[in-house]
Amino acid sequence: MNDKPIVALDFSTVEETKDFLQLFQDESLYVKLGMELYYQNGPEVVRWIKDLGHQIFLDLKLHDIPHTVYRAMKGLAALDIDMINVHAAGGSEMMKAAKTGIMDGTPTHAEVPKLIAVTQLTSTTEEMMHQEQLIQSSLMESVIHYAQVSKRAGLDGVVCSAWEAELIQKSTSSNFLCITPGIRPSGSVYGDQKRVATPELAKELGSSYIVVGRPITQAIDPLSAYLEIKQQWNGEK
Ligand code: C5P
Repeated sequence: MNDKPIVALDFSTVEETKDFLQLFQDESLYVKLGMELYYQNGPEVVRWIKDLGHQIFLDLKLHDIPHTVYRAMKGLAALDIDMINVHAAGGSEMMKAAKTGIMDGTPTHAEVPKLIAVTQLTSTTEEMMHQEQLIQSSLMESVIHYAQVSKRAGLDGVVCSAWEAELIQKSTSSNFLCITPGIRPSGSVYGDQKRVATPELAKELGSSYIVVGRPITQAIDPLSAYLEIKQQWNGEK
């Protein structure tokens, strides 16, 4: 279990991101940076956040032919990121190529970034999966299957709900990482998240890392909210 909650930097502009990170000058964070900021600002935004001393989960969800993903990953790993992801639906050959790309791109002596799979997007319902992907199993079976394929392809873990962590680890291995969004401290607003867990519960359910966005980014005092969630996640409160 990683002691730092991953803070989702779901901001539209670098300016907003800067204003937010200004509040954390004495904290070394683990942040999740997504397509929104990366596609508009490119590798520069990654370098800038790394220079501030923060760790980065680059949430770009790659999905393409193996050769393209290999080359993309090789370039991204050179940015000294800490975690990155792909869609398991891209297949095991693509996931293996992603892993090789990461290993080939990681600077000498740097730690190889963790490679995580997205199984079924949480925006996909079972009905959509049946009708649009023509997968006739249950959504959970598909998630478990993709987790197993990802594990066999050499990935480090998957993004999932805290409620799925135990079953995924039972079906793969106890050290297969479960990166879990949908975290809400008790009493906070759920927003569009449905299957939420508190930080304490996520820990009990077997999450390896929690991803927290709005409960921190939209808080009146983001630093206090972060420290409180961190304490809860670490069982210190
Ligand atoms: O604001 P909130 O805490 O809901 O943010 C959670 C973050 O995790 C967002 O960046 C969201 O896109 C991401 N995420 C998620 N559910 C998934 C995968 C990613 O909420 N299944």
